[in-house]
Amino acid sequence: MQIAADELDTEATYKLLTGLVVPRPIAWVTTCSPEGVTNLAPFSAFTFVSNRPPMVGISVGRKAGVLKDTARNILATGEFVVNVPDETLVEAVHLSAIEYGPEESEVERLGLATLPGEAVRVPRLAGVPASLECRLAHAITFGQGGSQFLVGEVLHYHVRDGLLVDGKIDTRRLAPLCRLGGPNYARLGEVVTMRPIAQASKNDGAPIP
Ligand SMILES: Cc1cc2nc3c(=O)[nH]c(=O)nc-3n(C[C@H](O)[C@H](O)[C@H](O)COP(=O)(O)O)c2cc1C
Repeated sequence: MQIAADELDTEATYKLLTGLVVPRPIAWVTTCSPEGVTNLAPFSAFTFVSNRPPMVGISVGRKAGVLKDTARNILATGEFVVNVPDETLVEAVHLSAIEYGPEESEVERLGLATLPGEAVRVPRLAGVPASLECRLAHAITFGQGGSQFLVGEVLHYHVRDGLLVDGKIDTRRLAPLCRLGGPNYARLGEVVTMRPIAQASKNDGAPIP
């Protein structure tokens, strides 16, 4: 099937891209409004963009042209926390995307516990395996919809005891939650371990003459 990109409207494009760019990790982002309300929302347009300094980015769209609370808070305060949810938190993650007004806290509505940040004033979630405290480094606007790609420098990591083994995250123990297209999520499936690239030969996998 061939599809010319300019034949698809905004909705169809969203469905196609969110179905093809899978599985996506989830940044469960806490922010503070200038009035001090803790906001929580999930963002699966999430990646890391640099490791020196460590930087991660989320793409925040608009609702009817208006900035979402998360983007407004980050732009106003310059701070956010990316909490990493595990598979047990799927329901709370999903429900935290319900639209509440800026004066209402999703954290309170969902009865989630928070802990104070070490390097930022934004609280982090208590029940997650990891949290990344971030200071806004770049805000870039994309497309006609005006979505914001917000990049934060990670100032402090919180990692649950037992998850970091020999400097590497034990992915099985992390049990990350993945986002698919639509209201679909996934758990980690089978993990396939390959020879490290530095040890692999250019002839590995080549057809046998
Ligand atoms: C799992 C999941 C992932 C999401 N990812 C994004 C995303 O990457 N970008 C976005 O703008 N909205 C995303 N959303 C929708 C927002 O979470 C939703 O609009 C939320 O109400 C925003 O809250 P806020 O206004 O408090 O910032 C996602 C929703 C869910 C359930």
